[in-house]
Amino acid sequence: MTLSADRPVVLIAEELAPAALEVLADDFDVRHVDGTDRPKLLAALADAHAIIVRSATKVDAEAIAAGPRLKVVARAGVGLDNVEVPAATARGVMVVNAPTSNIVSAAEQAVALLLAVARHTASASTALKNGEWKRSKYTGVEIVGKTVGVVGLGRIGVLFAQRMAAFGTRLIAYDPYIQPARAAALGVRLVGLDELLRESDFISIHLPKTPETVGLIGAKELAQVKPGVRIVNAARGGLIDEQALADAIEEGRVGGAGIDVYAKEPCTSSPLFKFDNVVATPHLGASTNEAQDKAGLAVAKSVKLALQGEFVPDA
Ligand code: NAD
Ligand code: MLT
Repeated sequence: MTLSADRPVVLIAEELAPAALEVLADDFDVRHVDGTDRPKLLAALADAHAIIVRSATKVDAEAIAAGPRLKVVARAGVGLDNVEVPAATARGVMVVNAPTSNIVSAAEQAVALLLAVARHTASASTALKNGEWKRSKYTGVEIVGKTVGVVGLGRIGVLFAQRMAAFGTRLIAYDPYIQPARAAALGVRLVGLDELLRESDFISIHLPKTPETVGLIGAKELAQVKPGVRIVNAARGGLIDEQALADAIEEGRVGGAGIDVYAKEPCTSSPLFKFDNVVATPHLGASTNEAQDKAGLAVAKSVKLALQGEFVPDA
């Protein structure tokens, strides 16, 4: 073990699985900071050789400039939309993530939200706990035989589709970057976005957040949906325009929504929260013991290798 003063500093800016901290403890000076407290984050970066974040910490050009010794930015999870990768690359700072660590958890969360929206699980539970035994008010719909539209047939979209296939659904997907043969092998028919909007009884979004995808589902798209469609977003806030979705629910065009992610997080106020037929969770897609262990361990190992000057394989 090296003396603390000589050890490279690894800054942990969000909660990390204990197993991951163990990987780092012997070789590095592990320090903690609240990544959402900007002044404290920037000050702590002054000494840091590596920083590990989840989705709440913004590692932008300013943050990278505040870390003159920075060699690695590690994202304990999938989405890199909170890391300004070009700014890191320009400074020669490596960016690593754990792209498969939480995909099963995220897909399961999307399925859970879809089922909860179909059967009014959350609102019926709240009502019952408040002393209301109302059965007919919470009549839902079956999943079997319904058309499920997957927007973004990547790692999580595929896992979601495979799980929905087990419910006896008809699966369609919009993803211009996927070969039709690959989709067909999964039992999914690739369609254009307009057709997906028109035909789906349920829509689930599994896109990355990029300049191209922000606001992809807005008022114009929601005007085309099959009346009563139920929509799930456990990918990224802002892919669906929250106000446009609230307007469509108000008008009854959209029959319900399951939302895990918000344009601005943390989010404690949204035009969607007033609806009984909206199930809202606070970005819990990756919040399972298994996903957190996998994500934390993967990035801790990558950080260790990078700071020791070793080759870093894909996590
Ligand atoms: P992925 O990169 O494997 O798949 C994304 C898919 O979207 C790809 O197939 C790509 O071709 C497609 N795509 C890209 N741009 C598109 C466009 N303009 N139109 C249509 N399709 C497009 O990503 P993934 O691992 O499946 O993750 C999906 C999303 O889930 C990401 O936003 C990720 O950050 C998010 N996520 C959320 C949670 C959570 O906690 N809620 C957990 C993990 C991941
Ligand atoms: C991810 O992109 O990995 C998820 O949003 C989960 C997280 O931020 O921890």
